[in-house]
Amino acid sequence: MPDQDRVVKATASMEQRVDAIQAALDERGLKASEAVAELSHLAQDVWVPHNGARVVAKAWVDPAFRKRLLANGRAAVEELGLTMPKHHRHLVVLPNTPSVQNVICCTLCSCTAFTIIGLPPDWYKDLEYRSRVVRESRTVLKEMGLDLPPEVEIRVWDTTADTRYMVLPEQPPETLGWSEERLAEIVTRDSMIGVARL
Ligand SMILES: [Fe+2]
Repeated sequence: MPDQDRVVKATASMEQRVDAIQAALDERGLKASEAVAELSHLAQDVWVPHNGARVVAKAWVDPAFRKRLLANGRAAVEELGLTMPKHHRHLVVLPNTPSVQNVICCTLCSCTAFTIIGLPPDWYKDLEYRSRVVRESRTVLKEMGLDLPPEVEIRVWDTTADTRYMVLPEQPPETLGWSEERLAEIVTRDSMIGVARL
């Protein structure tokens, strides 16, 4: 076999290359594996949409909290023990009404208030969503299963590095009187992005 072919066949897969870099960093005392394990734990167990769901449920049952949340989202979520990275300087909470549907995106990349509403789903990061939701939001929402009547105004909010958003969905009328814990169970990630109603 010519040497050229041998080189091509020996090219490592992406996984093997990542493992090799990780091992090389570990060998030099840079603790890459520890960092990967810690990030996986945060992504799977800590930065979950249930955090935002708790915020929404509290806002539904506690008008004073709702007021504080709308005035200063970052300070209000801290009341529930939730934190945001320092560079997420503002959390702007966008209340839906019967006549207004808010929807968030990041036209540049994938920014979200991920410690609150969870890491963004793949479609949120796709160029297709990022480019189309600002130009033809009604069509995009319809394609995603949210067919809004024409009289409902759609407001699209483009996240920046330091200003993060979450949508405050409306409380379904049939859930009036439910406990905060039970209410939190019905709040979905997509409803806090604004591509679904509850
Ligand atoms: Fe972004």
